[in-house]
Amino acid sequence: MDDVPERPRPDPWGRSRTLERVQELHDAPLAPLTTFRLGGPATRLVTATTDAEVIAAVREADVTGTPLLIIGGGSNLVIGDKGFAGTALVIATKGFELDGTRLELAAGEVWTDAVARTVEAGLAGVECLAGIPGSAGATPIQNVGAYGQEVSATITEVIAYDRENGETVTLANEECAFSYRHSRFKAHPERYVVLRVRFELQDADGLSGPIKYAETARALGVEPGDRVPLADARETVLKLRAGKGMVLDPEDHDTWSAGSFFTNPILTDEQFAAFHARVRDRLGDGAEPPAYPAGAGHTKTSAAWLIDKAGFTKGYGNGPARISTKHTLALTNRGAATTEDLLALAREVVSGVREAFGITLVNEPVTVGVSL
Ligand code: EPU
Repeated sequence: MDDVPERPRPDPWGRSRTLERVQELHDAPLAPLTTFRLGGPATRLVTATTDAEVIAAVREADVTGTPLLIIGGGSNLVIGDKGFAGTALVIATKGFELDGTRLELAAGEVWTDAVARTVEAGLAGVECLAGIPGSAGATPIQNVGAYGQEVSATITEVIAYDRENGETVTLANEECAFSYRHSRFKAHPERYVVLRVRFELQDADGLSGPIKYAETARALGVEPGDRVPLADARETVLKLRAGKGMVLDPEDHDTWSAGSFFTNPILTDEQFAAFHARVRDRLGDGAEPPAYPAGAGHTKTSAAWLIDKAGFTKGYGNGPARISTKHTLALTNRGAATTEDLLALAREVVSGVREAFGITLVNEPVTVGVSL
């Protein structure tokens, strides 16, 4: 490690976020920058606090042919134990600009803080996305969604640096190709670096958007489709998430995770029929798997349910990487895990679910230098 003075750095747990200028470290540990607290060092770690610094760092890497790893909130990253041979770039830009119902966020803004501010401002549209760890710039990449809201419903434009053409582009919502946990940015991970995200929120006299998720409606004591005071919606979601271990707490290893580790499988009607038959074979004639409509001819089922019913119940595992005690979809680092420990558990879950139900789960977090 180079002999450089220790300066405050952004970290996913929200501490010491002040940074005045570009900071550069060598052979720098990446684990503290991820919510899993896993992964080896980067050859070089650069922290950028303005769009110009982000673009300069990306251009330099591209011109010199240096591999580049973009780090936002670190909440969706599984970095290999060997680390990253190249430049890791932390996006630490700041900017929360509200103009009427229009909001522009710099990519480096802490998402959950931005949500809190929209609720305080009395605007609806992202209140059910409270408590989701990570940065604002990461939200369009996998079309972040929870409790009946998805960012694709409120994003109007994404401003990104296009590494292929070496220019900054503004992509309208329709150009972002949003779908369930997917987008144009996720489809071309090497091409775009998100700089800013623009949203159109709603002024509904202090009320939330329609509460669509059944579990949230139940917790609020309303019918799906009703609106409630914004702060109630946000607080209820935070409570539900905390109950599932899905709100970061540095003191609680049950939350040292990347949220959902697997996406919910989307099956064709034919695949669903075959799956349904296997469920009845295995769990008895009355067994019904969760099924949610997912577009014409498609049904989404629940990865958490599959994992549970394949025998990986809450708290599964004896090693340093285990399934969360509160939700089967969150794999956790109990403090002393390595990335290999985590991947071994993930592989065990994938093969167990495949054997039980014939479905191959796909990881949701991005893997760096490793794969499942
Ligand atoms: N279930 C189990 N065991 C468990 C937990 C859940 O069997 O331990 C079953 C239940 O049948 C339950 C169903 O799974 O009804 C669905 O669970 P939940 O409502 O918690 O939703 P999810 O599909 O597991 C998704 C998102 C979450 C988001 C919640 C709430 C994905 C991959 N995950 O989880 O997003 O917070 O809905 O909307 O789409 C994330 O992406 O990191 C994330 C946390």
